[in-house]
Amino acid sequence: MRVIPEDVYNPKSYEKVRLPLDDAETLPAWCYTSEAFWRAEVDHIFMKVWNFMGRVDLIPKPGDYYAVNFAGVPVVIVRDEKGEVRAFANTCRHRGARIADGKGNTRAFKCPYHAWVYGLDGRLKGAAGMENTKGFDRANYGLVPIRLETWGGYIFINFDDKAESLANYLGDLPEELASYNCEDLVTTRVTEYDLKCNWKLFIENAMEEYHLPTVHKASLQLLEMKHGIVPVRGNWDVIREKHEGTRALLDEDREHALPRIKSLTGHPAEGTHYVVLYPSTMLGMTTDCVWWLELRPDGPHKTKLIVGTSFPKETVARGDFADKVKYYYKRWDRSVGEDNDISEIQHEGVNSPFAVSGRLSHLEPLVHHIANWVADRIVGGDTFDRRHDADKTSAIALSLTKSGGGGRRPAAAE
Ligand code: FES
Ligand SMILES: [Fe+2]
Repeated sequence: MRVIPEDVYNPKSYEKVRLPLDDAETLPAWCYTSEAFWRAEVDHIFMKVWNFMGRVDLIPKPGDYYAVNFAGVPVVIVRDEKGEVRAFANTCRHRGARIADGKGNTRAFKCPYHAWVYGLDGRLKGAAGMENTKGFDRANYGLVPIRLETWGGYIFINFDDKAESLANYLGDLPEELASYNCEDLVTTRVTEYDLKCNWKLFIENAMEEYHLPTVHKASLQLLEMKHGIVPVRGNWDVIREKHEGTRALLDEDREHALPRIKSLTGHPAEGTHYVVLYPSTMLGMTTDCVWWLELRPDGPHKTKLIVGTSFPKETVARGDFADKVKYYYKRWDRSVGEDNDISEIQHEGVNSPFAVSGRLSHLEPLVHHIANWVADRIVGGDTFDRRHDADKTSAIALSLTKSGGGGRRPAAAE
């Protein structure tokens, strides 16, 4: 039976995760199910990094907003009167009630408890009943702003005021993906799923091809294609597939293909990029469209999955778009359903007291990277080196960069 360590910050627990792929083990099973490990992830990952929050074209007009619950933190994202997209803690400055719910368009946020009113810029505009409160100045009681930056029309938030810029965090990703012209994409559909699984199980699944012939045997074909992972700079990884046509249609629906993205050059012109944006987002970037899988973790056992799909403006403007896009949606509905089911099945097994670490196939290099990216942030100290040989997915050279220091202590002790 497995034993959950008292101290999840002890680097010893992750020693075998940090070996080269061919020798490595998976993360211990309790990393997917224990409350202690989840708390460590919240403190050292979700509260520190740039978290993906959808696209700016989901809120095109001033006053458009959506509320999210991310890793236990209620947040509201809104386009203000000047057209700027902003994020605020979704917590009233009076006695803390959540001020916004769901999504919509509004001129102001009115707290449902005692009706304090906040502008789209977060300023407290009205607080009836506070006239006799000594020294109370509305200017000091605006909503707490949360850092928000964008790349390519994608929204990212960071709860840590001291964190590096989004540009630093993403490294060379914007350069590699520039020819998709992501800022001009139009989101055509967003679907949401509530999953009973740990967020890491889902993102690991999204980044490995080992399961294609089994989980997707009736949907996604395993094409004869040249593929590989490549060295990158920044908090992302990519699998590149070289192939003809699109990867966003089932084989039986190829005749319904929409036109290619005209601007593609270099590697993007040759096939598909499957990108993991650490920690919990996958971008599927193929020759005619881009989709995303966005995870909102909610404790060790629950994850909200958002699937967004986007196409170039000129494709969406075509007379036959509505007819043809149905076949794309069919593909995503099918493959996402299959991945959702297997992730929940996996979580049930991983949650057993008899679940222990497993070994990895050469077809799972990014499962190994994800485990090490997570371990890096939990234990600090030695940092895993994600450099590898682009042409040898099966014999990836990975090494540990030795640096001094042991594990990281809990945030509360820092
Ligand atoms: S808690 Fe919001 S107005 Fe009282
Ligand atoms: Fe899958």
